[in-house]
Amino acid sequence: MKKDRITTITKAAETIKTDLLVYFAVEEKGKMPACDAAVKPQVEKAFELKDFSGKAAEQILFYPAAGSKMSAARVLVLGIGAVNKENDKGNALDMLREAGGQVAKACASVKARETVICLPDPKYLSGALTDPQASAAALAEGVILGDYRFDKYKESTKKKTDYPGLGAIKFVCIGNLNLIRQGIEKAKHSAFAACTARDMANEPGNHWTSADFAAYAKQLAADTGLGYRCIEKKEMEQMGMGGILAVNQGSHVPARMVILEYLPEDATETILLVGKGLTFDSGGISIKPSAGMEDMKYDMCGGAAVMCAMQAVAQEKPDVGVVAIVPATDNMSGARAIHPGDIITHYNGVTSEVINTDAEGRLILADALAWGIERFKPTCVLDAATLTGAVIIGLGHHYTGLVSNNDALVKALEFAGNLAGEPVWRLPLNKNYEKQIESKVADIKNTGGKPAGTITAAAYLSNFVGKTPWAHLDIAGTAWDFTEKAYVPKGPSGTATRTFINLVRNWKTGKIK
Ligand code: BES
Ligand code: MN
Ligand code: ZN
Repeated sequence: MKKDRITTITKAAETIKTDLLVYFAVEEKGKMPACDAAVKPQVEKAFELKDFSGKAAEQILFYPAAGSKMSAARVLVLGIGAVNKENDKGNALDMLREAGGQVAKACASVKARETVICLPDPKYLSGALTDPQASAAALAEGVILGDYRFDKYKESTKKKTDYPGLGAIKFVCIGNLNLIRQGIEKAKHSAFAACTARDMANEPGNHWTSADFAAYAKQLAADTGLGYRCIEKKEMEQMGMGGILAVNQGSHVPARMVILEYLPEDATETILLVGKGLTFDSGGISIKPSAGMEDMKYDMCGGAAVMCAMQAVAQEKPDVGVVAIVPATDNMSGARAIHPGDIITHYNGVTSEVINTDAEGRLILADALAWGIERFKPTCVLDAATLTGAVIIGLGHHYTGLVSNNDALVKALEFAGNLAGEPVWRLPLNKNYEKQIESKVADIKNTGGKPAGTITAAAYLSNFVGKTPWAHLDIAGTAWDFTEKAYVPKGPSGTATRTFINLVRNWKTGKIK
């Protein structure tokens, strides 16, 4: 889908020739669902037959006969569900995002290349959904995210016959045109950013290495004016980044630390984003079992999220500075690989005993956090990482795990995540957990045993952030296999990308101390 093929129009929808014309209906407990007058006769009939009540994902599909007032080849009426006042804004917007995802699915099932979507009349929406900009944005995000597919490596013969996805989307606007247009523009920024993060994740380990992270960032910087820097392996050695170098020892692809900067001159605050860019995690000498190991190509989803959030930052030019750092390498077991028991020295001088070479994410993040905080003196630092299997045991695939040293930052992230349909759940951190990673021979060790694996991983990271307000997102459960939703196709979800974008959009200077 090309960005410029998503447009807004105000023309009467019935007159438009298109593959699939979409209307929405809102459930009204026991009553005829609210919908556009153009499809009232069909909805009335379906409601009387008890076929349709406007519940989420319920559909009426019909084919206007020749001579009918409608020019579209097909017409879909899609249920949104009941919009009540109790729905918090995040849940309510996610209903619309889901509806958008359902539209994309419906388009795929009839192989529609173009769709015209009549945005729901604001008079049918209540509570949290009366904000026209946010509502249009959520719906548009849902369509774009739901239309995502990754068929780059399908043979050309198959690709030709397969449905390639939507080629154009037209949103018919009812209500405040300006606000709706702004909402759809924002939706394009955030949804395409998340789709790009999914693309990066879908690239397998042999096609997405530290060099690809660097090349992508360099191009993005050239296209947008963001600042770009790449710390190469030689420089890491001079700087003493013993964590990322240790993880990289068993690999033949040199590690890279990739940096994208958005630092407007008049900005007084800076948000630092750090993302784990582990392009393939074999476990190293502490090798992982082979069943399911292919999923470890996704171990760079944190890096993808922060890098792609910068794409939206570059487009939206906020008042606050934003910097993204991606420590990138794979974790392999070549002849020079680190051994369990090895002791390494991180960028800030903290020494660490490597008990398990598979607990590598924290080693590469540690250097990135310590260096990034020293270099940029940020107002706050956020990291996203597919860090522990333990977070899947604790929270399943429905919440991202959150560990933080700052309550105000937690609030801001909960808000941003909720609005994105990417909820986070905070876990505690205190000296009892810190004690679990005390080493007999070094300052700390890289595993704290089975209990509270997600928290002890965060305890490790806490040694590298000092007093800077910091929040750690463990996305191991949500980066792929995320909660089943119409706008989250199977595979990588792009999670945290839109949460970070929302955090930047809603940033208020002076709030985080
Ligand atoms: N990348 C993995 C975490 C992971 C596991 C993500 C499963 C998604 C699904 C990470 O590098 C890892 O291997 N963590 C270990 C840590 C342990 C050795 C302390 C884990 O969670 O088992
Ligand atoms: Mn690992
Ligand atoms: Zn890993």
